[in-house]
Amino acid sequence: MNARAMPQPAAATTRPAFGTVLASTMAVASWRDGKWSAHELRKYGPIELSPAIHGLHYGSTCFEGFKAYRWADGSINIFRMDRHVARMRQSARGLCLPQPDAAQLTAMITQVVDRVRDEVPEAPGALYLRPMLFGTGASIGGATSPATEAMLIVLASPVWDYFTKGPKPLRIYVEEQISRTATLMGMIKTGGNYAAALAPTVQARQQHQADQVVFCPGGQVQETGAANFLLIRDGRILTRALDPTILHGVTRDSLLTIAPDMGLEVEERIVTTDEMFEWVKDGEAALCGTAAVLSGVGTLVRSGGREYKVGSGEVGPNTRRLRAALVAMQQGEVPTPAGWTTRV
Ligand SMILES: Cc1ncc(COP(=O)(O)O)c(C=O)c1O
Repeated sequence: MNARAMPQPAAATTRPAFGTVLASTMAVASWRDGKWSAHELRKYGPIELSPAIHGLHYGSTCFEGFKAYRWADGSINIFRMDRHVARMRQSARGLCLPQPDAAQLTAMITQVVDRVRDEVPEAPGALYLRPMLFGTGASIGGATSPATEAMLIVLASPVWDYFTKGPKPLRIYVEEQISRTATLMGMIKTGGNYAAALAPTVQARQQHQADQVVFCPGGQVQETGAANFLLIRDGRILTRALDPTILHGVTRDSLLTIAPDMGLEVEERIVTTDEMFEWVKDGEAALCGTAAVLSGVGTLVRSGGREYKVGSGEVGPNTRRLRAALVAMQQGEVPTPAGWTTRV
């Protein structure tokens, strides 16, 4: 279980899959008797837990995912950390878990990044940061009560590509019956949501060779299994307004913030599936998230296998320039709005 030495693979074919390499240091804190312990930095490796803990039985787990980038000047910079810390606290509240203290979680993150700074890959790689919180307390009787104890861990992982297809257009299955999550849980970043989305995603892969699924129950577009969904065209971006059914993506927020300066008006509201199919006749569609960045959709597939080409079927021009603008900010090539980057 020791972390492997960090290579800087040259060719895409030799790059480890996203999340399979863990950095050498993690930070750990515990919540007991109503308060957080001081955290400690430890060598990455196994932890000992009772098999009776709340998180394993009743799903009291949440996590975050965001990145630290190595800029051309060699400095390491975390992108929009405060928003991810705030979302972690929001997820904890939604699961009746103790909220991590914002200052302590921030310190845990920056200390891990500092400790593993030599393991941060060059661009376009990055250090993916993964705070996780779960209910402990050795009792299998807590089905209807909150966890009595909890553990907060910050992991880090050097990453290269998420979508192994690189910048190629994605093939997305449109799921029109099933919701990605239970009511009100979409805005909570909890493992159960990903477990719930798994079977429809595996099925769409097998039956339709889809890369991902966009969930559209009741004729409304929500989001995909691990990214928000945007419709883009000259002069305009259209996406679902924030509500409890979708994750409040930080990448989504970053893109919508910079869009007006790029001549794109932002419209946030309910988007119907009919509108989406109409839009993609000559518009663009894309997935956005920390891992996906902004990945263009080339084809939508509907139940029964009917295919809808998105624009020309290639990644659209607005998707390309928006992605480039965001990446330039993440990699320190252009200034960001105040407070978006934290230098470690
Ligand atoms: C379900 C879901 N939606 C959206 C996102 C995008 O969120 P962010 O841009 O904060 O990474 C993610 C990624 O974490 C996700 O898992």
